[in-house]
Amino acid sequence: MTLPSTTAAPADPDFLKTMGEDLRKGLLPLRVFNNQQIYDAELRRIFARSWVYIGHESELPNPGDFAMRTIGEDPFIFVRGTDGVIRVLLNACRHRGAQICRTEMGNAKGFICPFHGWSYRNTGALMGMPVKREGYKALDESKWGLFEAPRVESYCGLVFANLDAQAPSLEDSLGDYKWYLDIQFKLSDGGMEVVGEPHRWIVEANWKQGAENFCGDSSHTQMTHRSVLDAGIADRAAAGSPNKKHGFHVHDCDGYAISIRQVDEGIDKFWEYPPDVTRHFNTNRLSPAQLALARRSIVHNGTVFPNFSFLHIGLKDSVDRPAAGYLSVRAWQPRGPGRTEIWNWIMVPKEASDDYKRRAYQVGMSSFGPSGSFEQDDVAVWPGVARSAATVFAEINEVKLNYQMGLGDMSDAVPMTDWVGPGVAVLSNAGEGGLRTFHKTWYARMTGQDLAAVEKEVGHG
Ligand code: FES
Ligand SMILES: [Fe+2]
Repeated sequence: MTLPSTTAAPADPDFLKTMGEDLRKGLLPLRVFNNQQIYDAELRRIFARSWVYIGHESELPNPGDFAMRTIGEDPFIFVRGTDGVIRVLLNACRHRGAQICRTEMGNAKGFICPFHGWSYRNTGALMGMPVKREGYKALDESKWGLFEAPRVESYCGLVFANLDAQAPSLEDSLGDYKWYLDIQFKLSDGGMEVVGEPHRWIVEANWKQGAENFCGDSSHTQMTHRSVLDAGIADRAAAGSPNKKHGFHVHDCDGYAISIRQVDEGIDKFWEYPPDVTRHFNTNRLSPAQLALARRSIVHNGTVFPNFSFLHIGLKDSVDRPAAGYLSVRAWQPRGPGRTEIWNWIMVPKEASDDYKRRAYQVGMSSFGPSGSFEQDDVAVWPGVARSAATVFAEINEVKLNYQMGLGDMSDAVPMTDWVGPGVAVLSNAGEGGLRTFHKTWYARMTGQDLAAVEKEVGHG
């Protein structure tokens, strides 16, 4: 069974009507970060119509493996069926709607509803019920399987689902941004794999807060994370020092953005992966330009709209141990207009040794895990934005925030004319072009406009 696409749309708040004009000036209505009306519309217009990250194929290596996931706030079961096919099944019994699966993850041939005992195979097909002969003699069981997300596609093992059956393909939606995703996920023949289980925690902030941050909010690092820099866990270049040669942003890349920090040409860094990991890298899987960038890289962070982000970085868990590279992938799960459940997975190249995987996991958890040195800084400041956004003052004064860093004549930095990758690249950390790109894409999806039309109205930059 497939789900019909969602079309219901609540009325728009007034500030959405002037959003294009605001974005052109680098302004953003504060209320987008905590507004029930906007949030209800986002669930329907964005989460029900976009490619939403579900999980990585390496989380379900065997038939029957499953894990609970969400699209917006809707509960789904991410499961590899006995037939080997990965599906995203709505966790709702067809009889009376009870949740058929209550375990976070595991392996099962099927699921039995705890209410009246209808049972389903791990492919979603209805298997039977306790009073089948007595009460459902004429039931056509083939019509009563679990609902499933109509579109499930993957790229580099990253599985996304879309509740809109008419949506363009995942690859078309990722567009030119695949060039940057390839650099993170195609380093070795086996690609990246998830280590351990995802960690999850709640932050009293809007889901867009983390998503826009990962588009290139470089300037917060020196302030929010100063204590980590002072402790020497990350060097200042990796943390986004204003040194021009080391940091650049790419924005307006088919609606997405990435922030990159690198060292001088000729130095191999590969995000601090040690030689016993880099020796597994297959240099033929990337183009020469992608490979050259990977070599010099110390940090990459980006967001695939709406709520999937990644951070590729090398860090220490102690000042007297060497840094270790890892890839953190994240989902900013909406849990209300002012609440987000952060999901964080640690990934490493599949061919790395078990020892290295353990080490990368430790470093990942100690930096960007729920009590990580960096993470606890971010979740201390983000709730303040949601609190301000909910104020009556912001509502009656139509408060707009400043997203003007590096916009137009604010900066002397101009797009790099010789940039070899897609998107608009600016060799400066003093810019918020990536954040503006995120909100342009948001505005396009919320108003049902083509991204091209929005870019024309708002401009590049
Ligand atoms: S609600 Fe599932 S069997 Fe009745
Ligand atoms: Fe941060």
